[in-house]
Amino acid sequence: MADNHVFEIKHLSKTFGTNAVLKDIDFRVDTGDVTCIIGASGSGKSTLLRCINLLETPTSGEILYHGNGITGKNFNQSAYRAKVGMVFQSFNLFSNMTVLENCMVGVVKVLKKSKEEAKELAMKYLEKVGMAPYVNAKPRQLSGGQKQRVAIARALAMQPEVILFDEPTSALDPQMVGEVLAVIRTLAEEGFTMIIVTHEMAFARDVSSHVVFMADGVICEEGTPQDIFENPKEYKTKDFLSRFRNS
Ligand SMILES: Nc1ncnc2c1ncn2[C@@H]1O[C@H](COP(=O)(O)OP(=O)(O)OP(=O)(O)O)[C@@H](O)[C@H]1O
Ligand SMILES: [Mg+2]
Repeated sequence: MADNHVFEIKHLSKTFGTNAVLKDIDFRVDTGDVTCIIGASGSGKSTLLRCINLLETPTSGEILYHGNGITGKNFNQSAYRAKVGMVFQSFNLFSNMTVLENCMVGVVKVLKKSKEEAKELAMKYLEKVGMAPYVNAKPRQLSGGQKQRVAIARALAMQPEVILFDEPTSALDPQMVGEVLAVIRTLAEEGFTMIIVTHEMAFARDVSSHVVFMADGVICEEGTPQDIFENPKEYKTKDFLSRFRNS
C-alpha cells in the first residue's frame, strides 16, 4: 500500500534556467528509515531536500507524503511544514531570542499550544540535546556545536514526523562535530525518521539504514550502507568514496 511510505519521490526533476539540477529522481522513505544522501558538491543534494521541504518547487515529477502529492491543490502545506522539520548547516536560530524562546516560538505560533505546554516541550528536548543549562543564553553566546544542538531541539519541539538535515556539521569546528553527530545518532537509535545530507562518511555508514549517492543530479547508486560503502558497484561511487579514504 502506497501510504505505508512516508515519502515517495517519483521522477522528480528540478531545473534552474537551463541548468538541470535534479533529473528523474526516484526513492522512498519509510517510517524509521535513516536515509543519508551523499555526493559531491553541486550534485543536487540541497536542492533535493529543499524540494521535499517545499522551499523549491519541483519542475516535474512528484513528491508523495503518505500517498499525497505535496504540491497538489488540496494538500495542506502548512500542516505538512509542521510535520517535516529541517536543520540547516547555518543553524538559522533567531538571534534576538533566547535558547528557550527559539524552541518555543514555533510551538506557540504554528502548533497553537499554550506557553506552558510550549515551555514543557522545549525543555524536554533541550534536556535531550544537553542544552538545558543554556535556556537563557542568546545564540551569539553559544559555540557552533551548541547552536546546532539548540536547532535540533527546536525542530524536535515541533514533534515532527521526519527531520531533514542539510550538512548539519559542515559549519562546525572539528572538535564540535562529534557532539552534534552524537545527538543525531541517539535519534536514529530511537527510530526517528530522518533524511541527512552529510559529508561525514563514517557517520553515514554507522547511522543510516539507506544510503543514496548522488552525482550530477541523478541517483547514481543507492542501497544499504554495506552496499554503498563496502560493495559500491558504480565507478563514480568508488571514485567518490576513495577521495574520502585518502583524505
Ligand atoms: N536557486 C538556485 N538558482 C540557480 N541555481 C541553483 C539554485 N540552487 C542551486 N542551484 C544550482 O544547483 C546545483 C546543485 O546545487 P545544490 O546546492 O543542490 O548542490 P549540493 O549537492 O547541495 O552541493 P554542496 O555539497 O556544495 O552543498 C548547483 O549547480 C547550483 O549552482
Ligand atoms: Mg548543499
